Amino acid sequence: MCGIVGYVGSKECTEVLLNSLSKLEYRGYDSAGIAVFENGEIKTRKAKGKIADLVNKMEKEGTLSGHCGIGHTRWATHGEPSDVNSHPHGNANVTIVHNGIIENYKKIKEFLVRKGYTFESETDTETVAKLLDCFYEGNPLQAIQRVIDEVEGSYALGIMFKDYPDRIYAVRKDSPLIVAVGEGESFIASDVPAILKYTKNYYLLDQDEIAILKPDGVEFYDDHGTRIKKQMHIADFDEEAAKKGNFPHYMIKEIHDQPSAVKTTITPRITNGMPDLTECGMTYDRLKSYENIFVVACGTAMHAGLVGKYVIEKTARIKVTVDVASEFRYRDPILSEKDLVILVSQSGETADTLEALRLAKRNGADTLSIVNVKGSSIARESDMVLYTHAGPEISVASTKAYMVQLSVFYLIAFALAYANEKITEDECRRLVAQLQEVPDQIEAIVAKPDDCQYVASKLVNTENLLYIGRGLDYALSMEGSLKLKEISYIHSESYAAGELKHGTISLVTEEMPVIAVATQRELFDKTISNVKEVKARGAYVVLVTHEGKDVDPDAADCVITVPSIDDLLMPMTAVVPLQLIAYYTSVLRGNDVDKPRNLAKSVTVE
Ligand code: AGP
Ligand code: GLU
Repeated sequence: MCGIVGYVGSKECTEVLLNSLSKLEYRGYDSAGIAVFENGEIKTRKAKGKIADLVNKMEKEGTLSGHCGIGHTRWATHGEPSDVNSHPHGNANVTIVHNGIIENYKKIKEFLVRKGYTFESETDTETVAKLLDCFYEGNPLQAIQRVIDEVEGSYALGIMFKDYPDRIYAVRKDSPLIVAVGEGESFIASDVPAILKYTKNYYLLDQDEIAILKPDGVEFYDDHGTRIKKQMHIADFDEEAAKKGNFPHYMIKEIHDQPSAVKTTITPRITNGMPDLTECGMTYDRLKSYENIFVVACGTAMHAGLVGKYVIEKTARIKVTVDVASEFRYRDPILSEKDLVILVSQSGETADTLEALRLAKRNGADTLSIVNVKGSSIARESDMVLYTHAGPEISVASTKAYMVQLSVFYLIAFALAYANEKITEDECRRLVAQLQEVPDQIEAIVAKPDDCQYVASKLVNTENLLYIGRGLDYALSMEGSLKLKEISYIHSESYAAGELKHGTISLVTEEMPVIAVATQRELFDKTISNVKEVKARGAYVVLVTHEGKDVDPDAADCVITVPSIDDLLMPMTAVVPLQLIAYYTSVLRGNDVDKPRNLAKSVTVE
């Protein structure tokens, strides 16, 4: 949610700010804006819409010239997307950009109104800007410290004080913020891709730490105002990796990235053909010591957890509970130090998942996170972390991150099953070898998208759709449904195939296509029976199953097959056509595939 940037250096900062914002637009695109010190004054340009709309507005109103400034691309939480609610916010003395939610902004606003302040916008952010102004008595650091004592909620702030026209101040709590340093220049940004064009060297701001960016370098302070030293990190990918190359959209590029992403993620975790998770301290003994395993995540990451549940319970015979993080936090879960809570998150910054992690730790459970963004908050606060190595995932719809999350769950399941003596070493080696075949299988599927393009052409005018499956296929159908609805805007729902007849089948007509996933051999005939039930009621049916499966020609209108591997691993191959169907349907409907309406890549607000 929201992307913020800042720059101090010798370059014209408007170009730097706009370029950096363009690399963060996946985090939110309701509006965009910049503020620049120009001739000692803080000048602002902002506009509803995307960065391109801001550029158009600046061509009309005039650009800004200076070497120190901040920028913002918004995902609105308080106040509709509009010019006046766009960031930056503030006044001539203090101007800020903000990622997060100020939970006590109304109380602060009432206090400021009593002090004579007026407000232009409906945002919570504007109250912070004016509180900084109210507390400022000539020392920005003191004003910031007083504000962070008053404010409740989450924030990553880029701040400009008129009295200090060559500096940017930054502070964060719960929303991510990095400080990057180049040759005679420094940056703040919500995420690493924003600064890769200029430098790979960056610092991670920790809770309530304050950074001051000056022309001669960066200073860090803790929330007591004490100067501190921080460890510098070096980005492990370059700007190219965060680009879409010759692909028309990030999403299709990231679908094609999946074979290499899986290889890069699993290879360092397979030793002599056996799963090896000791890099994070997860030995076989530690793994088998847990009485309960919980998986907590949001959206697609939760769907990966559902597949993980089925596979762990099937192979290791250990009970796994899967929760969406926003529910886990408030259902008062029964946790103990004998339990393992696995947090799954591509961004590592999802607010609900981060708070679930903190709840698990407060209850004494061990925490393991499966995260794609190195050094992200969830990774840093977990007891153990298994990084996925998918590279930056830019498209809002998660594809390669889901795939590599699955691959890690398979390694965990096989290790746990072997540690609990539920499978022999030979069986474990066989399963690991099957996992190592998956990248080539995915390669083969993405090379032949014709069937998926055809199905998309049949769905393009659909308004409602069902995904059905049993067992692992049901878990997978949830991911297929979310992929389709979030980028095509077709209302789709996933349903346990065996449950349809208990009510939902009343919805099925020729206006309600059904995508059935049937890759589990032992459940195939039962799923086909359910397929025939919906087909008999007029549904257009797409069946996704194994290559070489003998399918009754009357069972489905279109059959998409994927290479046949062990049933357990079929979700990793069968999900690819579901991703491709969603992608091509969105393209045919003329949607913004990578930046679908109302969404943002990283949900750092509750
Ligand atoms: C997936 O396509 C969605 N963009 C969304 O559900 C996402 O998976 C969810 O917000 C969790 O994000 P995270 O993995 O970064 O925590
Ligand atoms: N709460 C701020 C606003 O609504 C920032 C939102 C965000 O970080 O997504 O403008």
